[in-house]
Amino acid sequence: MRAQLARDFARFAAGLPRDWPAHVRETYAIDLGARYLGEPVAHPIGKGSGQLSLNPGQLERDAAAGLAFVVLKTVIAEDETGERTMQAWAVPASRMAVERRRAPDGRDGWTVTWQGRGWDRSFAEYLALVRVARDVTRAGGMPVVPSVKYHLPRAGEAFRDAEYRHTTRALAEAWGGAPLLLEQDFSPTLAGDALASERDLVLRWVREVPQRIRAAVEGESVRVALKLMNARFDDAFQMEMLAAAAGSGADALVVFNRLFDRERGIAYGGWELSDRNLRVLDLYRSAVRDAPLEFAPPLVGTGNVCSGRMVLEYARRGCESVQVHTYFQLPLDQYPATAGSRTQRALHALVFHPADGLVAGLLDLARRGEIERRDGAIHFLDLADAHRPR
Ligand SMILES: Cc1cc2nc3c(=O)[nH]c(=O)nc-3n(C[C@H](O)[C@H](O)[C@H](O)COP(=O)(O)O)c2cc1C
Repeated sequence: MRAQLARDFARFAAGLPRDWPAHVRETYAIDLGARYLGEPVAHPIGKGSGQLSLNPGQLERDAAAGLAFVVLKTVIAEDETGERTMQAWAVPASRMAVERRRAPDGRDGWTVTWQGRGWDRSFAEYLALVRVARDVTRAGGMPVVPSVKYHLPRAGEAFRDAEYRHTTRALAEAWGGAPLLLEQDFSPTLAGDALASERDLVLRWVREVPQRIRAAVEGESVRVALKLMNARFDDAFQMEMLAAAAGSGADALVVFNRLFDRERGIAYGGWELSDRNLRVLDLYRSAVRDAPLEFAPPLVGTGNVCSGRMVLEYARRGCESVQVHTYFQLPLDQYPATAGSRTQRALHALVFHPADGLVAGLLDLARRGEIERRDGAIHFLDLADAHRPR
C-alpha cells in the first residue's frame, strides 16, 4: 500500500483522477465519506468562506477539482430598505499578501494578511452568486452555501429582526428549495472590535442567533452553522462559548475562525491558530465526556489545515469535515503537483502525500489500532462519530 501510495502521489502530480475518492476506496479500502451541515459529502476537505469563493469561475474550478463543499464569502445582512447595521464589515479591501508567520514556539506557517472584511458588492449581486451556487450544488453534489454576518446587538439592544427577515428570505428564495443551508460568521475582526468586548454579550449572540434566523423564515426549513470566533478572552471563555453554541439550536459549529493581532489590527493564522483550536477542542471533548450534552451539534474544523494529518487532528477531536482557506493560496512552488488549479494541487498533497497525506494518516491510525476497519474498510467518519452522543 505504501508503494502504491508513492506511485499514486507521483502520477497524480500531473492531475487527479476525476473521481479520486472512488480511487481511494477501491485502492486502499478507505471510505473518505464525511459530513457538512448534515449533508453527506465525498470526503472531508471543503473551502472556508472568503476571497476564494467570490465568483462563478472559482466555484466551477472547485467542482471540477472534486472539492467536498464550498462556503461563499460572507455577506452583510440588510433590511428591505438596504439598511445594514453591520455596514462597517462591508468595506472594499486592498490586495492580499500570503506570508510566512512564525508561531511563538518557532514553527513557521503560512498566513494571509488582508485588511478586508465582508462582501463589498450589492446584495443583489450576492443573490446572483447564490443562484449559481444552487445550480452548481444541484448539478454535481458539491454543496455551495452562503455565509452571513447578521446584526449583533449591543448590551440592552434588541436584535434587528428586519435585517434577519429580509436577508434570510431573499437567500431562501434565491436558493429555491428546502432546506436552505447557511453559516453565520463571527469573524476575527468582530472578535477584535469593541462590540465583542463583553463576555455576556458574545454569549448572548451565540445563544440567540440561530433562533433569530429560524424565526426569520417562519417554519421554512433552514440549517444553520455558527462559525465561532477566537474571542479575545482565554480558553475557559472559549469553552463557555462552545457550550452556549451547543445549546443554541445550531445545526453545526465551525471551530474556530482566525486569531486577531491587535497591534497590527489584522487577522492571522498558522500554527498558533491550529494549536489554540485543537487545545480548546481537547478541553471540550473531555468536558462533554464527563457531562454529556443533550444535543451536541456536529463540528467542522478550520485553521491551518495544511496537511492530511492536520485534517485527522481535527477529526480525532470530533470534526466531521474541515474548511481550508490559506492552503489554497500558497505560491505554486509550494505544492508538489506540477499542473492543475490551486485547489487540485492542494488536494493532491492533502490526500496523497506519502508521509503527511490523509490516506497515509488513516493507514497509520488503522495500523496502531486507533481506528478499526468495518466491513473490511477504514471509515473516515468513524473518527468523529466516536465522539457523538449515543
Ligand atoms: C483573506 C481571508 C478572508 C476571509 N474571509 C472570511 C469571511 O468572509 N467569512 C468567514 O467566515 N471566514 C473568512 N475567512 C476565514 C477562513 O474561511 C478560514 O476559516 C480561516 O482562514 C482559517 O483557515 P486557514 O487557516 O486554512 O486559512 C477568511 C480568511 C482569509 C485568509
